[in-house]
Amino acid sequence: MPDENPLLKEAISLGGDPDAIRAFYQGWSDHYDDDMLLAIGYVGAKIAAEALVKHVSDTALVLDAGCGTGLVGIELIKRKWNLTIDGIDLTQAMLDAARSKGAYRKLNIADMSGPLYEIDDDVYDGIVSAGVFTNGHVGPAGLDELIRVAKPGAPIVLTVRDSAWEADGFKDKIGQLEKDGRTKTLEITHSPYHTKEDIFCQLVVLEVV
Ligand SMILES: C[S@@+](CC[C@H](N)C(=O)[O-])C[C@H]1O[C@@H](n2cnc3c(N)ncnc32)[C@H](O)[C@@H]1O
Repeated sequence: MPDENPLLKEAISLGGDPDAIRAFYQGWSDHYDDDMLLAIGYVGAKIAAEALVKHVSDTALVLDAGCGTGLVGIELIKRKWNLTIDGIDLTQAMLDAARSKGAYRKLNIADMSGPLYEIDDDVYDGIVSAGVFTNGHVGPAGLDELIRVAKPGAPIVLTVRDSAWEADGFKDKIGQLEKDGRTKTLEITHSPYHTKEDIFCQLVVLEVV
């Protein structure tokens, strides 16, 4: 297996500390897209967008949670141009890069490891989050707020990197959500993630009950 990109090694060692994450992505925002797409072969944004559009209407209101530079937004509007897409992220420079892509209605700062104070209950027809539920970023508890802000029946699509799936408690959390009758698991597929590094993820599609 090729060595993992040094920037990604640093990213997954950030320990979930919001200040460290913000500082790291602030410095990466201007070359993130090239590094991820060209050097790493990142397909997380593409597979997550592909999965979400199968489960929402053409005019759905969608939240891209941890939108970064907006790679998911671009993949969404390529497939369904009439979606309304809001994005949230911890890092201002990433949101600024997303704004320049022109795919989003609103882009706001938010910390997904805590309450999403500015978003009401039952707002979104669908939620997508690629590359955020991973080592050193947002843990499984972050799912509770995504469920709260999604409408009943809405799909929530996430990628969870293999190295975080069991070790960081995502598999257990998703099982527990299903047992508690809060979500139905529609799909869990082992998928390519960083195609130039042989790193895989679980592509998860939940439906909010
Ligand atoms: C690997 S990037 C993924 C970005 C985008 N979704 C994509 O697929 O390219 C991870 C993003 O998660 C954001 N992030 C990390 N921790 C976060 C948190 N606690 N709340 C909100 N965003 C967070 C970072 O700022 C960064 O933009």
